[in-house]
Amino acid sequence: MKKIILVTGGTGYIGSHTVVELQTAGYEVVIIDNLSNSNREVIDGIERISGIRPVFYEMDCNDKPGLQKVLMENKGIKGIIHFAASKAVGESVHKPLAYYRNNLVTLLNLLDLMPEYAVEGIVFSSSCTVYGQPDVLPVTEDAPIKPALSPYGNTKQINEEIIRDAIHAGLPFKSIILRYFNPIGAHPSAEIGELPNGVPQNLVPFVTQTAIGIRKELSVFGDDYDTPDGSCIRDYINVVDLAKAHVIAMNRMLENKSKNNLEIFNLGTGRGISVLELINTFEKSTGVKVLYKIVERREGDIEKVWANPEHANKVLGWAAKETLEDTLITAWNWQKKLKNRSFIR
Ligand code: UD1
Repeated sequence: MKKIILVTGGTGYIGSHTVVELQTAGYEVVIIDNLSNSNREVIDGIERISGIRPVFYEMDCNDKPGLQKVLMENKGIKGIIHFAASKAVGESVHKPLAYYRNNLVTLLNLLDLMPEYAVEGIVFSSSCTVYGQPDVLPVTEDAPIKPALSPYGNTKQINEEIIRDAIHAGLPFKSIILRYFNPIGAHPSAEIGELPNGVPQNLVPFVTQTAIGIRKELSVFGDDYDTPDGSCIRDYINVVDLAKAHVIAMNRMLENKSKNNLEIFNLGTGRGISVLELINTFEKSTGVKVLYKIVERREGDIEKVWANPEHANKVLGWAAKETLEDTLITAWNWQKKLKNRSFIR
């Protein structure tokens, strides 16, 4: 019998790619999503790729009785991957309470219910934002956690602490915390991808929307940083590579491969790329020009951060494989597909 995995936020960007990889690996998937930053058609995209339609509940993870019903109706859920969260850094500064409620209560609800339904483990979506501006690059998992610069960043830190304390207290489940660097790109089939609500805040969707003519011009936030070309440096990781790491993490927990009930991994490529380099690589690999201008720095931006992914490489046997060029082509193919389907919201 197939093992069942509950994926919260499973119609979202990273969630949907992970659902496909879980299905491909032989898991049965149940999705919970409130569709606050995604849409129902993502389920069709998932089905077109894997040939399997996941069970879907339109529900908010703040709804504890609702979660309980899902766990009751789908007996034997072995693991949870918890993506559902609000993730816009700027918005979180203006709506802190909504961010704390959304990003903290949802995790508490899940952890509360796991023992009752014998759910063995939870993979948690964290972020390199917990490191702030690291003192040493590339950043390893034992780098100090810096004070958060936004309520969003703070929710990730608090979530990690909640999990750590719960495991420390001996609650009967395991957890793997995955700290993502900057996920980009789309599934190579272009059936699923990133679908930001309104004006994109993240770089790559803004680049592809500018390239296709939805946006007039990309603003590059600052060219006076202490980096070789003056623009910020990030570690951009292919979303399918990232999704695959979740399957490995889930296997690891369910097969009891680790002695530790809590593990933390950086998921990045290990390569720092500047904003200007990314634009340049996009233009070269797609042959499409991106109009851009340099503007003021964006408040709260970190100058440079990239991962030391050796821990994940060694322990999980996972490494990012796709090149930046190929990944940007997948993002572009997805953008073109969206245009044809007039799928923009
Ligand atoms: C941020 C968060 C990260 C979070 C992610 C989710 C921090 C430090 N990082 O990533 O934790 O998971 O958002 O949304 O809080 N840029 C431009 N022009 C644009 C957009 C972006 O120049 O129009 C630049 C930014 O200044 C940055 C880089 O592109 O240097 C990447 O930005 P973005 O895609 O927004 O990701 P982060 O800010 O790194």
